[in-house]
Amino acid sequence: MRNQQVNVGIIGLGTVGTGVARVLLQQRELLETRTQVLFNLKAISELDWEKERDIDLSTVKCTTNADELLNDPDIDVIVETIGGFEPAFSFVSKALKNRKHVVTANKALIATRGRELFEIAQENDVKILFEASVGGGIPIIQGLREGLIANNIERIYGILNGTSNYILTKMHKENLEFSEALKGAQENGFAEADPTLDISGGDAAHKLTILSSIASNSFVSFESLYVEGITGITKVDINFAKSLGYTIKLLAVYRVFNGGLDLRVHPTLVENKHLLAAVSNEMNAILVKGDFVGNTMFYGPGAGERPTASAIVSDIVALAYDLLLKDEKYRTPTIKTTTDAKLIPIDEITNRFYLRFFTRDIPGVLTKISGVLAEYGISISSMVQLETHEKDNYIPIVLLTHEALEKSMKQALEKIIKFEFVKDDYLRLRIF
Ligand code: HSE
Repeated sequence: MRNQQVNVGIIGLGTVGTGVARVLLQQRELLETRTQVLFNLKAISELDWEKERDIDLSTVKCTTNADELLNDPDIDVIVETIGGFEPAFSFVSKALKNRKHVVTANKALIATRGRELFEIAQENDVKILFEASVGGGIPIIQGLREGLIANNIERIYGILNGTSNYILTKMHKENLEFSEALKGAQENGFAEADPTLDISGGDAAHKLTILSSIASNSFVSFESLYVEGITGITKVDINFAKSLGYTIKLLAVYRVFNGGLDLRVHPTLVENKHLLAAVSNEMNAILVKGDFVGNTMFYGPGAGERPTASAIVSDIVALAYDLLLKDEKYRTPTIKTTTDAKLIPIDEITNRFYLRFFTRDIPGVLTKISGVLAEYGISISSMVQLETHEKDNYIPIVLLTHEALEKSMKQALEKIIKFEFVKDDYLRLRIF
């Protein structure tokens, strides 16, 4: 009997789209052997066909008109690899309305408009899968949905943005300033077109929104997450962190807490002995704690042509089972999501903190700062003061605290920076 065939169309032949085309053409036999399904790359739509691409597309229909794919009754699966909101949203929703399954790596789209898209998909009895939207090549979404399906997910700590991890790694290892390290990340090609999303924590927050919805079986609204980026971190902080035995990482946190969810993205001091501290450059890692499995760690390349394409093709294969085994009512496992997540406001969370101030080198400074902290019930666990610093007559002081309520810390800081001997470019980080 001839193996069954699934026809695929790709919209957008940038880095990721090219990778998907490459996998489908190059691994055709491997995929057929493993699945008994022939994955046929039928068509690609792309506006810029002038660009040099090292790929033979002679067997594929190439067009500039996405509608030719969206209206082609033979195409079963549309891969959206243009990114951004528009025209990506219009293409994806049209594909779903035309009863085509969709695979996308578009984290911004899924995190902010996923709910609408899932509804359209459901109404049309098709699916939208997005494994590549989080962690690039790491199978974290299938990991949560399938491998860990027996667990209540208690915690997720993720390094989810390759660009910011690359920047922080370079700052740590090569003693670079933030702007120098950012330049390197952009040159390496894994930064977003607008790197603001990477360094502001927005991209990691998109990814955390997606993971949280899956882990909690509830809709998480991207807008309600607490997000801080890495732009305030200086060489001084990196060196303090180093001397105290920590590495600074942009962490995405998911924690079941007080009957709700504690969700946040912020730079965090991670103890050097922790596995997450060793995740360097553009690599991603996700630590997941399930109530039965305990701690698990997923690690791998979080961006790039080949890893992202690997994840996209795994979704195409998953959809093939839906397409071909419909009669047997087999479905790729999904988690039903009907309720909204209850988020715990950041003010009600407790954390350990790293506080860095630039203060004048005069008597009584520390007593006054620690006095304010004590007033708000915040206890200091250690303190470092550098003897000299190039910044005129201000010296950097770092305090680490025991667990304290976020709200108390906010109030204490508002008071501390009013002291005339404290510069207002202080930094407050959390400790993991
Ligand atoms: N800009 C993203 C990152 C690409 O740096 O992680 C992958 O989503």
